[in-house]
Amino acid sequence: MQLGALKALADADRRILDLFESDANRAAEFSASAGNMLFDYSKTQIDENVRAGLSQLCEDAGLAARRDAMFAGEKINETEGRAVLHTALRNLDGGPVEVDGQDVMPEVLDTLQRMRVFAEEVRGGAIAGAGGSFTDVVNIGIGGSDLGPVMATHALAPYHDGPRLHYVSNVDGAHIADTLRQLDPTRTLVIVASKTFTTIETMTNARTARAWMSEGGGDPSRQFAAVSSALDKTQAFGIPEAHVFGFADWVGGRYSVWGPVGLPVMIAVGSNAFDAFLRGGQAMDLHFRSAEWTENMPVMLALVGIWHRQVLGHSSRAVLPYDQRLLRLPAYFQQLEMESNGKSVAMDGSSLTVPSGPVVWGEPGTNGQHAFYQLIHQGTDVIPCEFMVAAEGHEPELTHHHRLLLANCLAQSEALMRGRSLDEARDRMAAKGLTGAELERQARHRVFPGNRPSTTLIYPKLTPFVLGQIIALYEHRVFVEGVLLGINSFDQWGVELGKELATSLGPIVDGEESAQDKDASTAALVAYALKYRD
Ligand code: F6P
Repeated sequence: MQLGALKALADADRRILDLFESDANRAAEFSASAGNMLFDYSKTQIDENVRAGLSQLCEDAGLAARRDAMFAGEKINETEGRAVLHTALRNLDGGPVEVDGQDVMPEVLDTLQRMRVFAEEVRGGAIAGAGGSFTDVVNIGIGGSDLGPVMATHALAPYHDGPRLHYVSNVDGAHIADTLRQLDPTRTLVIVASKTFTTIETMTNARTARAWMSEGGGDPSRQFAAVSSALDKTQAFGIPEAHVFGFADWVGGRYSVWGPVGLPVMIAVGSNAFDAFLRGGQAMDLHFRSAEWTENMPVMLALVGIWHRQVLGHSSRAVLPYDQRLLRLPAYFQQLEMESNGKSVAMDGSSLTVPSGPVVWGEPGTNGQHAFYQLIHQGTDVIPCEFMVAAEGHEPELTHHHRLLLANCLAQSEALMRGRSLDEARDRMAAKGLTGAELERQARHRVFPGNRPSTTLIYPKLTPFVLGQIIALYEHRVFVEGVLLGINSFDQWGVELGKELATSLGPIVDGEESAQDKDASTAALVAYALKYRD
């Protein structure tokens, strides 16, 4: 089955509500469970035929073999010649995992144990700054060295009993200035997180933090730690070996929160809670490796994504967590999905004949409802929505809040599916006393087309274990979509050109070199900046 052939199964007239009418078991049949989590994709136009066609794609693309190759440490990241083994970082009870004939698990577990000891000593005060135990931790990193731990720190707020955490990513001096201003340089731990330890934003912020600490009476030789796969560079920066946590090149930046990049999270919530996070990820791995395609949550999430993007042509998808603590999850998924599957060249170098991955965006509910849902309900584009919600919150005294949250989440997917016809809108306007042309005009504004697809992921409560399940679920979803598209989801060449040009523009915006070789627009913008700069 070719992806393109699935278009024959698309039918704009297929009403989701009719699918429910004709199948009393639809909700159960078009959902998948993994542990205690339930993924409901019944509010889509996918029927038995479509699902069979989508499953066939998995067979024809050799998905099982690709999946097993990833877990077995084969170099499936072909353009970089690397294995893809972030799953080894959460392989707590698993057997050996070999890369080039060498079991990587002893080193993974050894680093994890060093992280646990370091994190607990920071939390307990055995490792301290020049002015005493650490009150604050600043993580300096960007992209995968920032978004994962930021997202997880917010998500696990109820478990946060360690020092306060701060994240600095942007090279905009405002970010580090606003962060450091409130901190004591003698009681702050700085973690420099960079896989390559060359990223200009991170290294610039790290040097600024080091100067701030020295000038403020702190001791960078005790109060800095590093997370990187470039150990020679961490040493050159002056970070003591005991404070350096390494990882191998087979952990991609956007897949790295499970290992040393997760160190700030471990310091915040403790090593037991972090272990539970890893176990949640591992549980999803086991499910992904064993469940039949139609019962397999990551596979079905991917197939729903393929159906909406590559078959029906919807160019974006909204991720809508009804969980305030997942407020950074959409940003995290943006990198995970768009950096992984935003490609137009297939693995073999040929051009992709179907659209690449979609634009991913979103905000927590219910805030989004009062901002952009208008377009989702009545705009001319169809935007498949991915809702997420917990059965219960963390605040027993605020269950009435959670009931409202849940009701709002369920109401949105129902409204998207059901819509409101012109006749229904007319009846409502007539009930308000409108008649004639005014009734007609007003009614038309109140029509909802409906039949708009959404999925809902529901879980018991946002615990560390559940967070691990959710992140691993989406990682595998991205992997499956990449396999079906025939692309390499694990490189990111698309970020390079901008980096190179920024380097060449450095001396130009400093006024040291002329902008004459640049295009007229760039030259004019440089001239403006130079004119108004002090
Ligand atoms: O933006 C490109 C990128 O390489 C991301 O893939 C990565 O997560 C980020 O930069 C940060 O890289 P590093 O961890 O090496 O500083």
